[in-house]
Amino acid sequence: MSADQKVLSSLRPGVATEPMSGIVDTYIYAMGKPDVIPLWVGQGHLPTPAFIAEPAARALAAGETFYTHQRGLPELRQSLAQYHARAYGKAFDAENFTVCQSGMQSIQLALQAILSPGDEVILPVPAWTNYAATLRLAGMKPVEVALDFDGKSWTLDPARLFAAITPRTRAILINTPGNPLGHVLSHQVLQAILDECRRRRLWIIADEVYGRFYYSGNKPGQPAPSFLDICDTEERIFFCNTFSKNWAMTGWRVGWCMAPKALGPILENLVQYNTSGVTTFLQRGCIAALDEGDAFLADQISQAEQGRRIICERLAKAPGVRFAWPEGAFYLFFKVEGATDSAALSRTLIDQARVGLAPGNAFGQAGQGFLRLCFARDPAQLTEAAERLGNWLERNER
Ligand SMILES: Cc1ncc(COP(=O)(O)O)c(C=O)c1O
Repeated sequence: MSADQKVLSSLRPGVATEPMSGIVDTYIYAMGKPDVIPLWVGQGHLPTPAFIAEPAARALAAGETFYTHQRGLPELRQSLAQYHARAYGKAFDAENFTVCQSGMQSIQLALQAILSPGDEVILPVPAWTNYAATLRLAGMKPVEVALDFDGKSWTLDPARLFAAITPRTRAILINTPGNPLGHVLSHQVLQAILDECRRRRLWIIADEVYGRFYYSGNKPGQPAPSFLDICDTEERIFFCNTFSKNWAMTGWRVGWCMAPKALGPILENLVQYNTSGVTTFLQRGCIAALDEGDAFLADQISQAEQGRRIICERLAKAPGVRFAWPEGAFYLFFKVEGATDSAALSRTLIDQARVGLAPGNAFGQAGQGFLRLCFARDPAQLTEAAERLGNWLERNER
């Protein structure tokens, strides 16, 4: 046994064998290759706007560099309550909110608060790569239930979801609008899940980080159907969210959770023992994002909507491609007829079409044969990417 093997074999079981995210794998493959349009990752091309960055920079310069409230600055938690009230048309209480280091960490906090090793979490798939990996690393079991794809739409059958419940099930993890599918669950489906979870005393972990990116609303800016519309904030539901997507802040690593007030002291402890809070001066920028960011967010949504049209219209004309028009989030998940190895196809497209896409199997076996494309990008770049992909598919018709 080599020295490295000796060290690795003495780690916690599972930690060294957890595979690398297929998205990171694609990114590493594409690194350094000239003229590749990067659409594999879930972020736009714009840096954080000045109205958000400057208050953070000013707070840093002014010496806001000390420890602060574990659950976030009280003003920031107040701004979160007001932002939710504006978006969802009802009152929210700052006491339900906890600021944390990223959307990813809000999921970790949910797991730490609710689950024990060996517990099962029901997970509709294809789903964002990180859920299953983080559950496994924490010794919990993701129980995958596949959505149905009929070539034009993705649907989640609540009955199939409930059939997967066992005595070990503690939670159902629902991501809507969904990454990578762009599907949006209706109020009817959300209500069925809520009713069943109430009846069986299960938690809902609601990841609604793309809740504002919704393209089928009656009014501009209308959020996607949400558990927030139908639940009571004091029941067993834990919302995970982030500043990353709405306000071009992926590199800030700041997010928030919304949970029943009874969890306040527990989250206070969990934050203390995980990170001991979020960078103080960054929180000033987050307040600006919430208080002054509605117009910027509206622009982001309308740009994503334009990107969606550019990509979907071009790929709809390409041979052998099947997809559902995404109703929310900012991803197109499309199937390429005859493709049996998404990772190999994504490498080929990097080399031959010079477009970087995430392989569908990074989102679970149900995504094999699919590719995920992020359309929250500059329209000119997306038009070019759509042409490159369309042309490649035409040249390589299967
Ligand atoms: C569905 C979903 N939830 C949560 C996150 C995490 O966001 P953050 O960048 O704040 O960690 C992402 C990021 O891509 C995501 O797609």
